[in-house]
Amino acid sequence: MQAADFQFLSALIKERSGIALSSDKTYLLENRLGPLAAQRRLNDIAGLVARMKSVRDEQLIRDVVEAMTTNESLFFRDGKPFELLRTAILPRIVAARPKERPLRIWSAACSSGQEAYSIAITLLEEEALLAGRPVEIVATDIATSMLIKAKAGVYSQFEVQRGLPIRLLLKYFTQKGTNWEIAPRLRSMVSFRQHNMLGECAGLGRFDIVFCRNVLIYFDEPTKKGVIERIAQVLAPDGVLLLGAVETIIGLSTRLEIVPGAAGIYRPVGSGPRAAVA
Ligand SMILES: C[S@@+](CC[C@H](N)C(=O)[O-])C[C@H]1O[C@@H](n2cnc3c(N)ncnc32)[C@H](O)[C@@H]1O
Repeated sequence: MQAADFQFLSALIKERSGIALSSDKTYLLENRLGPLAAQRRLNDIAGLVARMKSVRDEQLIRDVVEAMTTNESLFFRDGKPFELLRTAILPRIVAARPKERPLRIWSAACSSGQEAYSIAITLLEEEALLAGRPVEIVATDIATSMLIKAKAGVYSQFEVQRGLPIRLLLKYFTQKGTNWEIAPRLRSMVSFRQHNMLGECAGLGRFDIVFCRNVLIYFDEPTKKGVIERIAQVLAPDGVLLLGAVETIIGLSTRLEIVPGAAGIYRPVGSGPRAAVA
């Protein structure tokens, strides 16, 4: 790929999604955008860039950005966050709120929906604790194709085998041919919406718990800072933010601090002394 084409594409992708591509990621651009060029009957990536420069084709720009998103996800990814949600975060937040106040959880950068449905399953498994309290899980992503898949709630045998215990598979999914379809009750607990993490999120409302996992890794520091700042604005004063296993925002935010003893879990600064996550 020509250096100028790499420059053009990486700048556009960064501007539209925050995804930062260093020059050693040329192969990634070639692998992901080669098929898109072919689909559009363009000879190669140079042809794709030429087309983008000659006509303002919003759909093509969106397709390029979407092709550069990495959508890897699985049910109950990393285990521990969902265990903490069940044993510590939910009991504390539920105890601190009047019974009629809805519990609101955001699965930010939800990809194909496994994270949001893992949260929903955790809540249903703890129904007694919720005691009829209304729950809303908002799941968002930039990628249209992922949101379509997530909304459908249909997963392959391979996908359900990754992270979903067999007991929960049989309890919450119905087999449809070689695929598994999520129970309507779980499906109705999650509302999927398109949202770019570069944009304001105030319109999504206030959240008690935010999962924003395995997306900050694609952003540079200023972008991460902006994303965290906007999440902090919608997080309840006693809410928590859960990041991915390899992600940290230490030094990037003056509004959020790590919960002592709970790697990857953050809370608003000054939210008062609490015993660990609970
Ligand atoms: C690796 S997946 C993480 C999925 C899930 N959170 C998990 O941990 O399993 C990263 C997701 O971030 C989304 N993404 C990337 N840039 C984004 C942006 N600027 N706004 C919203 N979503 C974005 C991608 O489309 C992709 O689905």
